[in-house]
Amino acid sequence: MKGIEERFARRVLGMKGSEIRRLFKMSMKPGVISFAGGLPDPQSFPSEEAAEVLHSLLRQDGKTLLQYGSARGDTRLIQIIQKRMHQRGIETEPEEILITAGAQQAMDLCARVLVDPGDTVLVESPSFIGALGAFRNYQARLAGLPMEQSGVRLESLIKVLKNLQAEAASPKYLYTIPNFHNPTGAIMSQEKRRKLLKIADEFDFLILEDDAYGDLWFELGQQEILPIKSLDKQQRVIYAGSFSKIISPGIRLGWAAGPKELIEKFEIARQVVDVCPNPLIQALVVRLAEDGYLNQHIGELRETYRLRRDAMLAALETYMPEGVCWTAPKGGFYIWVTLPEKLDASELFPKAVEKNVAYVIGQPFYPDESIKNTLRLSFSHEPEDMIEEGIRRLGEAVKEALTED
Ligand SMILES: Cc1ncc(COP(=O)(O)O)c(C=O)c1O
Repeated sequence: MKGIEERFARRVLGMKGSEIRRLFKMSMKPGVISFAGGLPDPQSFPSEEAAEVLHSLLRQDGKTLLQYGSARGDTRLIQIIQKRMHQRGIETEPEEILITAGAQQAMDLCARVLVDPGDTVLVESPSFIGALGAFRNYQARLAGLPMEQSGVRLESLIKVLKNLQAEAASPKYLYTIPNFHNPTGAIMSQEKRRKLLKIADEFDFLILEDDAYGDLWFELGQQEILPIKSLDKQQRVIYAGSFSKIISPGIRLGWAAGPKELIEKFEIARQVVDVCPNPLIQALVVRLAEDGYLNQHIGELRETYRLRRDAMLAALETYMPEGVCWTAPKGGFYIWVTLPEKLDASELFPKAVEKNVAYVIGQPFYPDESIKNTLRLSFSHEPEDMIEEGIRRLGEAVKEALTED
């Protein structure tokens, strides 16, 4: 009998468990201060509020909420999302919105519906590993575009586009995280957003805008993080949003907004994957939004995460040796650290775990996995005192690695 691996479809042969998961396991020991996962603060989850609301929803409407629901999503939730996007400058119709199982499903649907094997997808380098994995699953050819503090480097984009043009090819879409980028924490400048749209017009490609962290700004005005979609006159932008970082990732709820015909295809495609979004959970989010809890909660989260960001930046300043640099994000969850070139973040990892601190190595965030001396720190999960202690331990590990060399 043939081995099971020999029976796999060709398209899954390239799928591999991430290195991150392996390292993540190594760090799962008691006493480790973890800056690894992009995990929201568990203390912020609305367990009590959700328990009360779910209890009353099940009592009042259990027969409907425990039934299959609409594949498109709860119309009340769609209206809430439409209104929230309007407040961020995005005008959409309900037919242009699909409720998804988190923003991650929007990434999958986008590739599922748009990508043929070998198609080029432009991605920031580094970028969110979950999205890179979703695009790879459909055998996209990923073209990495270097990141800078003001977002993706447009000169590199134009160069890649011209090279593609020379091959008579064009990209299917460009994937970007303009607000509080994962993993670098960068914000794309408004000027760059406008220029990017212009380039997309000129070379005629779509933009997949992932705004998973767009509500979590700390000290900026909303104007500075207006989504690219708010500038989009041509239905060129597919927008992905999420409730994971502002309510809880376990509820698995997000959305995609884009051209009606595309959203219709997304809906058909999702029906054979997970049938419909969870009706009970959608009703919960509707209630949390309608009674004002959600907005108040987001205000509290901004404060919590701002303090944690500040604590991490201060600790990095205190404990990191010369030659290490890092970003100073204005929102979101992440700080991106660049070690001196001679250090390899994956070789440093076991030494850090020995000192009971963990992070995520930077290498898998690059589509070509070429850079070894970067790492991502998430300040969202640990309280301030743990952040300080964790960075102190990490600083020690870095100093020791530097002297060993
Ligand atoms: C940039 C980005 N997009 C999407 C996601 C996935 O979020 P969700 O839980 O909504 O699927 C994440 C999760 O960390 C993320 O960082």
